[in-house]
Amino acid sequence: MATILLIEPSMNINPRLHSFIGSTTGPWEIIESRPIIGAGLPACERLLYLPGHASSPESESGWVLHGATSNERYVTRPEKELLLAKQPALNRPEANCAVLIPIKKNAAWWALTQDERRQIFEEQSHHNQIGMDYLPAIARRLHHCRDLSESEPFDFLTWFEFAEEHSAEFDKLLARLRATEEWKYIEREVEVRVRR
Ligand code: HEM
Repeated sequence: MATILLIEPSMNINPRLHSFIGSTTGPWEIIESRPIIGAGLPACERLLYLPGHASSPESESGWVLHGATSNERYVTRPEKELLLAKQPALNRPEANCAVLIPIKKNAAWWALTQDERRQIFEEQSHHNQIGMDYLPAIARRLHHCRDLSESEPFDFLTWFEFAEEHSAEFDKLLARLRATEEWKYIEREVEVRVRR
């Protein structure tokens, strides 16, 4: 059984920080883990998603990824209001399926200005507009890793929860997003599908 070591000084908890731990323990069984762009992640049996900063002993064959929730960068006020009205919370009892998709964007993306990125994200790629078609079936949470440390392998950890009956819809959402201009700037993407 894997031992998870939690490092989080109790006096200094950042409530936005979260950890995903691939190992032999956790409520989520890993059904499939596959690389979409670039290298995948080592194969593991189970996934743990925790608040705080976790690390595993070096002997573990698993992995730990860290990310922090943050303010929005790209949404306009009307888009934000629509999202708030339609998006469901995580941990719904019927949402027995989840997918962790860690993503790294390339240097060309990060060299763009904020308004150039927004232009690609929404005006060209319609990321939010496409995503809204799948709410409230899919619950989502976005974590940022880029500014946490130089050693984080991804820029974003995206997490989605849904009931099994919505699996095919989730696949359609992925296909639509992956065909967009925005996805040309992605240099690493992994898909980790789990079930409770
Ligand atoms: C479930 C429907 C979805 C909705 C409603 C949605 C909506 C959004 C919104 C509004 C943002 C921008 C947040 C901000 O303003 O900073 C965002 C960012 C992001 N989403 Fe989605 N999304 C969805 C699905 C997905 C999926 C399936 C993926 C991955 C395959 C994904 C990956 C990302 C990434 C990586 C970002 C960060 C982009 C960046 O800051 O460069 N999203 N999403």
